[in-house]
Amino acid sequence: MSRKIYYYSRTGNCARVAYKYAKDKESYLVQIMDVPEDRYWGAWGFIKGAINTLSKKEVSYRLVGDRYIESSEIVLITPVWAGQIPPTFRSFLQNESFASDLMVHVVTVSRSGRGRDAFRQVVKILEKAGVREIRHRNLKENEIE
Ligand SMILES: Cc1cc2nc3c(=O)[nH]c(=O)nc-3n(C[C@H](O)[C@H](O)[C@H](O)COP(=O)(O)O)c2cc1C
Repeated sequence: MSRKIYYYSRTGNCARVAYKYAKDKESYLVQIMDVPEDRYWGAWGFIKGAINTLSKKEVSYRLVGDRYIESSEIVLITPVWAGQIPPTFRSFLQNESFASDLMVHVVTVSRSGRGRDAFRQVVKILEKAGVREIRHRNLKENEIE
């Protein structure tokens, strides 16, 4: 059975994890992208990213890739920003619809390797949609091959 992999990545680490997952099994990749694309680029983008995360700002995004493929299993790959999920990933989770019988694997990627709170935020949003099968894998960025 195939699965769909959604990922958000500012500096490429989550993209690398996504490509790695895509090799294991028949997979379809969907990238969550900022609109405008450069919203969080550069040093100012980093600061803005932290501020928008802490204020839980709702932002625009677009999905690029095999978004219309039906799949009963999805992988969600996100960096950890300020201990939380980034605004773009949060906006995506809140605006997309997820079937309640989906099996979801969440992968959090961070410098420190602390992704538990970010995972809890994902669970909270998905549980509102009725999703019950939610697993977590936490990666430290220097552990990514
Ligand atoms: C605005 C911002 C805040 C961050 N906050 C944290 C943090 O609280 N803890 C942590 O371990 N890493 C933090 N990071 C580092 C990223 O989680 C880490 O570099 C991750 O690998 C980035 O993934 P990406 O390359 O796919 O964007 C932060 C990065 C950004 C841009």
